[in-house]
Amino acid sequence: MIQTQNKKIYKAVAETVKQVSSSSYFIEINCGEKINIKAGQFISIYCNGLTLRRPFSVYSNKNGKIGILFKERGKGTKYIKSLKTGDLIDIIGPLGNGFNIKDKKSLLIGAGIGIAPISFLKSQLEERNITCIFAGGFLNKNEIPIGINIDKIYTDDGSYGGKGSIIDYIEGLINEYKPEIIYACGPLIVLKNIALAGQKHNVETQIAMEKVMACGIGVCRGCVIDIKKDNKIVNATVCKDGPVFSGSEVVWR
Ligand SMILES: Cc1cc2nc3c(=O)[nH]c(=O)nc-3n(C[C@H](O)[C@H](O)[C@H](O)COP(=O)(O)OP(=O)(O)OC[C@H]3O[C@@H](n4cnc5c(N)ncnc54)[C@H](O)[C@@H]3O)c2cc1C
Ligand code: FES
Repeated sequence: MIQTQNKKIYKAVAETVKQVSSSSYFIEINCGEKINIKAGQFISIYCNGLTLRRPFSVYSNKNGKIGILFKERGKGTKYIKSLKTGDLIDIIGPLGNGFNIKDKKSLLIGAGIGIAPISFLKSQLEERNITCIFAGGFLNKNEIPIGINIDKIYTDDGSYGGKGSIIDYIEGLINEYKPEIIYACGPLIVLKNIALAGQKHNVETQIAMEKVMACGIGVCRGCVIDIKKDNKIVNATVCKDGPVFSGSEVVWR
């Protein structure tokens, strides 16, 4: 994985802020300069007086404008949702290690808001003409963000696409598309099932993990997970060593 070198603080400007599904919002942040970002990397946003910045995966990156797709959860996301075009916004990024893109037939899986970095990854794979298919899982059709380009959709309640959890479709997707690599982001249980299915079918997996973060830069150790390294179990920080890990290196509980 590639170590981030170009992390920077930006006093940026909020541009488009809009609701794109029943529970998610899109904001585009103008940083005033082109920034190189690998899919899977994240930015951390200062939220109006809250001590801890809030981390968000990059969803798009065009002409110096970073887009994020987010769900409202608490004070931080409520603040971001309330921003208006022209408001100043303080971000640090890009942070962490993104997906290590390989020129291999790729299966992309995103579940819930985990579709954000996966959608960005899809655009980066397509720019390189790498064959890929993007499967997304949602609770119901109202959760599917407007304008997102997903090839296969599954909803828990069957209101759009295949019915049921995307977990139930992982094996079928692998058998049907025969990917050489799987990239994924979503709830832990989805990532665990993808990593285990990858091991079973001998397919490489790269998964973007999420953990509640404090510093976001590898200092506080508040976001550690266990990974396997040289036949030992060691700690790794999701914010600095990740958020993207090989599915086979994570110790799944
Ligand atoms: C690397 C990374 C990338 C992320 N990318 C995105 C993204 O693209 N879009 C998006 O909507 N969110 C993303 N998140 C989650 C996002 O950071 C949280 O939703 C946000 O910090 C919540 O802030 P808040 O002040 O609104 O809520 P808080 O008041 O901090 O929390 C409200 C509730 O949400 C829970 N919560 C907070 N953080 C998380 C979390 N990481 N996972 C699950 N529950 C949480 C809290 O436990 C609490 O119950 C990402 C997190 C990480 C670590
Ligand atoms: S959030 Fe502090 S080390 Fe990761």
